[in-house]
Amino acid sequence: MMVVGICGSPRKTGNTEFLLNEALAAAKERGFETERLLLSEAKIDFCNDCGGCSKGKACPKEDDMSHILEVLERADGIIVASPVYFGSVTAQLKALFDRTIPLRRQGFRLKDKAGCAISVGGSRNGGQEKTLETVHAWMHIHGMIVVGDDAHFGGIAVRPATEDRIGRKTVVASANKLCDLLERTEKKKSCWGGD
Ligand SMILES: Cc1cc2nc3c(=O)[nH]c(=O)nc-3n(C[C@H](O)[C@H](O)[C@H](O)COP(=O)(O)O)c2cc1C
Repeated sequence: MMVVGICGSPRKTGNTEFLLNEALAAAKERGFETERLLLSEAKIDFCNDCGGCSKGKACPKEDDMSHILEVLERADGIIVASPVYFGSVTAQLKALFDRTIPLRRQGFRLKDKAGCAISVGGSRNGGQEKTLETVHAWMHIHGMIVVGDDAHFGGIAVRPATEDRIGRKTVVASANKLCDLLERTEKKKSCWGGD
């Protein structure tokens, strides 16, 4: 089974990427395949509601989204990590969210995938929970199954993330909760002999 991590920060090797790496390392340790989508490296244009995907057509925009959609569709679990920008996700991540609408309009292709969220801010109470809510809303609107960190809402940290011991714990706990869910689903599938 495969877990993909999306890093919503436009900054390479920053706090968000560090935390996402910790989450993916936890999944890897449990035997999951992992992949990363770094928005610091991706070119993603905005959805301008041309309506093509409602008619079953592929998105006409030529950027990195076709690759991203392919990876998301292939994933069993999706971990989304974002810095807090003015109390919410980054514009880069919101652009990605909007561009996933073909997956919803063309058969709810993210339905029942497992998801969790990670957020890091410069202030202790800088809007991390609201940022997680925005990610969770995207997941729910796709019909995904959302998990937290087994106590609260997910991975929440404050910059510098390397020094936030408690925040890092919530990140790893969220990844482990996601893996628990995937393992349970897999066990049920093999018990019933398939889908
Ligand atoms: C445009 C902008 C807006 C920000 N808004 C917030 C905010 O509302 N709350 C907060 O706690 N931190 C805020 N920050 C700080 C970032 O969340 C923080 O630096 C984070 O660690 C950046 O993640 P990165 O290192 O992965 O890029 C903001 C930073 C920028 C550049």
